[in-house]
Amino acid sequence: MTEGLKPEDIEPQAKLVEKEFWEWQQRFHSVFDSRDKFVETIDTQWEGAGLLQKTEAALAELARERNRLLGKKSTLATLRKKIGLADPIYRAIVGQRVQHLESAIEEPIHKAELLLNQFKTEVSAAREAIDVTIPGRRPRQGHLHPITLMRQRIEDIFVSLGYAVEDDREIETDFYNFDALNIPEGHPARDPQDTFYTTEGFALRSQTSTVQIHAMQRRGAPVRMIAPGRVFRRDTPDPTHNPMFYQVEGLCVDRGITMAHLKGMLAEFVHRLFGPETKTRFRPSYFPFTEPSAEVDYSCFNCGGDGCRICKWSGWIELGGSGMVHPNVLRRVNVDPEEFTGFAFGLGIDRTCARIYQLDDIRLLFENDVRFLEQFR
Ligand code: FA5
Repeated sequence: MTEGLKPEDIEPQAKLVEKEFWEWQQRFHSVFDSRDKFVETIDTQWEGAGLLQKTEAALAELARERNRLLGKKSTLATLRKKIGLADPIYRAIVGQRVQHLESAIEEPIHKAELLLNQFKTEVSAAREAIDVTIPGRRPRQGHLHPITLMRQRIEDIFVSLGYAVEDDREIETDFYNFDALNIPEGHPARDPQDTFYTTEGFALRSQTSTVQIHAMQRRGAPVRMIAPGRVFRRDTPDPTHNPMFYQVEGLCVDRGITMAHLKGMLAEFVHRLFGPETKTRFRPSYFPFTEPSAEVDYSCFNCGGDGCRICKWSGWIELGGSGMVHPNVLRRVNVDPEEFTGFAFGLGIDRTCARIYQLDDIRLLFENDVRFLEQFR
């Protein structure tokens, strides 16, 4: 009478292990197929964003399968324990049966792991490879805004005439925006230049004339400068108005400066900007900080003064305001009006820009529509 297990006693469990392995083969057999079939199976059977992720998913499943078939809790592990329970006469046979099963499973799993890992390396190497022959993506080159282009043209002309370019603050006190420019509180000239107020006593400048004061405080007289910059007004936007726009201020103070110098200098400026045939015209005007004051017009660069759509059939286009610096302004900055006289002018850059490029509406300049801006390369 023998004790312990006989070979046939472990057979049901051995068959179960074979069945489990058969299921594995159904899932993984194509890994050993031709390369095309193998790639196709990975592509269709596993989930992932790309071939690399799919291969990783297959490898992860393979690791789970290895554990299921060969791990501590597998049927095979239970079977292994039975070797010790086998009858000594049959122990070798039972041991061999289990051993065969184990290597029959271990070997193809190991091979499948090798193949999948090899494939994963290939796929990631291909992904990281750089094809130096592919033409690079050319970065889209930016360009200057039409207002900046206009400002630079204006600056170039004045610099060549001996003017320094001043840059100054956009937030101002009442003193610089109004009082020092001979516009005391309650003066009606403050109304059309109503602006945006920040903290008590500070406001966004409504004109670049503020820089006249800063420049003379800094440099005294004589002085010759232009100051391009942004200004702000409580103007409702329309084709010729924006609440934010650009001006360029000009100031020339020296001994013996007269209105003739102002006229000559502005005539020279428009000749250089629009061509030597351009004429200027001065119309009497009023600014509290200049006396006398004048509005300056230039003959239309398009029709030469005959009248066209651009100059609204008048033959003339407004350039800006100008005049002889008021003695009160000079006194405010400790420049003696008995010794020094000067002229000043202020031009709107946006409107000049709109005229030159024949824009019907200055608001286009601030809409940031790339299709529009791209035309000014
Ligand atoms: C002035 O601002 C004076 N500081 C100019 C000046 C300087 C006169 C020195 C005398 C001596 P005025 O308010 O007219 O002036 O504005 C000058 C220019 O700014 C106008 O000719 C116009 O081209 C432009 N401008 C005025 N308001 C607007 C606006 N809302 N939008 C766009 N441009 C404007």
